[in-house]
Amino acid sequence: MPEHLDPFADQTLAHRYDGKIALVTGAASGIGRASAERLAAEGATVWCADINGEGAAETAATIHGKGGTARADSIDVTDPEACQAVVAGVVEAFGGLDVLCNIAGIGGSAHTTDESIGRFNAMLAVNAAGPFYLSQAAIPHLIERRGNIVNLASTAGVIGQAYCAAYCASKHALVGMTKAMAIEYGRKGIRINAVCPGGVNTNIIGAFQPPEGASMSLIGRSYLTIEMQEPESVAAMVAYVGSDEAYYVNGAIFSIDAGTTTG
Ligand code: NAI
Repeated sequence: MPEHLDPFADQTLAHRYDGKIALVTGAASGIGRASAERLAAEGATVWCADINGEGAAETAATIHGKGGTARADSIDVTDPEACQAVVAGVVEAFGGLDVLCNIAGIGGSAHTTDESIGRFNAMLAVNAAGPFYLSQAAIPHLIERRGNIVNLASTAGVIGQAYCAAYCASKHALVGMTKAMAIEYGRKGIRINAVCPGGVNTNIIGAFQPPEGASMSLIGRSYLTIEMQEPESVAAMVAYVGSDEAYYVNGAIFSIDAGTTTG
């Protein structure tokens, strides 16, 4: 990682997470890894969870190497029992949970008529059901410590995107459950919010190749710029939303997309 993007090298960074415990899914790469590192650099003890256990362990090792505290775990967020178990594991190991970051995700593009049922169901399972299961497990613990949930949605959770009906369905579902849970639990002192990036330079981008015969002008409607942001840009927003500085922010859907969803 270039030094200017390394949160551990940033002497001006706030320490908003001292004494806090965070569970970050998708922590093996991209936005999840950058968010795990950012929270750890700000003082959090981070549990790095991902279906790619080796990648999650690498993230935890990087955090350790830079003086932070982290553990890693291999978890498939589509498995409700595994979601219960990982939250129980965090609470047992560290004594509680302050922030759940639901960042694991998968994507894909296709003509709607060509999309496979299996891939449609998989996107719903990872991007929507996984955060639901983890929220179910985490909420009682978050209530104990006035904690919060940060859901990683997408521009695809705010607007429609051609050739991405399955992905859009999953991210709109995530945005919808964010708002519903925020209302349901706001008076119990916890916050549930979503961050909606566009165009982040990570592995998932490879899954969004235009399908054969796609209209570039329809695809262009979903992008105001072809320039991409780095995952650390999104991690900075995740770190704000998940911190006590955002104590009055609940049910908010934060765009970080260079203006793509403004209209
Ligand atoms: P990425 O592909 O680098 O990271 C996704 C991570 O999720 C991977 O480490 C992967 O192993 C993990 N994962 C996939 N299925 C899993 C499962 N069943 N259980 C546990 N972990 C699983 O991509 P990126 O960009 O970092 O993705 C993070 C989130 O950001 C995703 O939810 C994605 O939809 C969202 N996003 C990404 C954008 C982009 O342009 N890269 C834009 C908007 C949203």
